[in-house]
Amino acid sequence: METVAFVHMDQGTKEEYEFLKPLFADHAQSVLVDNLMSMLKMLEGPKLGYQVDRNVHSRQSATRALRAGESTEMVVAALLHDVADSFAPDNHSDAAAALLAPYVGEETHWIVKHHGLFQGYYYFHHMGGDRNARDQYRDSPHFDACAKFCEEYDMNCFDPSYDTLPVEEFEPMMREVFARPSRLPGIPPLETA
Ligand SMILES: [Fe+2]
Ligand SMILES: [Fe+2]
Repeated sequence: METVAFVHMDQGTKEEYEFLKPLFADHAQSVLVDNLMSMLKMLEGPKLGYQVDRNVHSRQSATRALRAGESTEMVVAALLHDVADSFAPDNHSDAAAALLAPYVGEETHWIVKHHGLFQGYYYFHHMGGDRNARDQYRDSPHFDACAKFCEEYDMNCFDPSYDTLPVEEFEPMMREVFARPSRLPGIPPLETA
């Protein structure tokens, strides 16, 4: 079989879906990291008033996490925490957390998902907001870790004089994390051939 015969999904047979399933799963896995690297590249350019662009900010975040001895998945999470800025500007934390979710632990996912609100501790009060909005999550077991992420790997990563590593330094870590078995079931669970 080179292609399925159906043009409407409700006409597909079990045999056709069994043929399709590994084609997608293999393709998705083979291009995933390259696509994420392209998304990071999309953050190059506009500085939007800051002294560094968002690509430098992301690499500086990952560089600081790496030098602090954080786990591989935390370094990758730092690299990608703002990667959704270019296509999900109003909920970039949620979007980045969603793409990491299958491959990282619960705390790493929680940190990325909530980092935007926690980062607000450093500036919301200058923009008419509540810098303590993060306090609604005081009871979370991940509160301190998320506050630490913002303090050590996010709010301080707008420095053009910092020795920020190139993205190539992080590519092997990206490949390791995104090759992990997904901890989400998929629709239905995706298997490679
Ligand atoms: Fe962010
Ligand atoms: Fe950030």
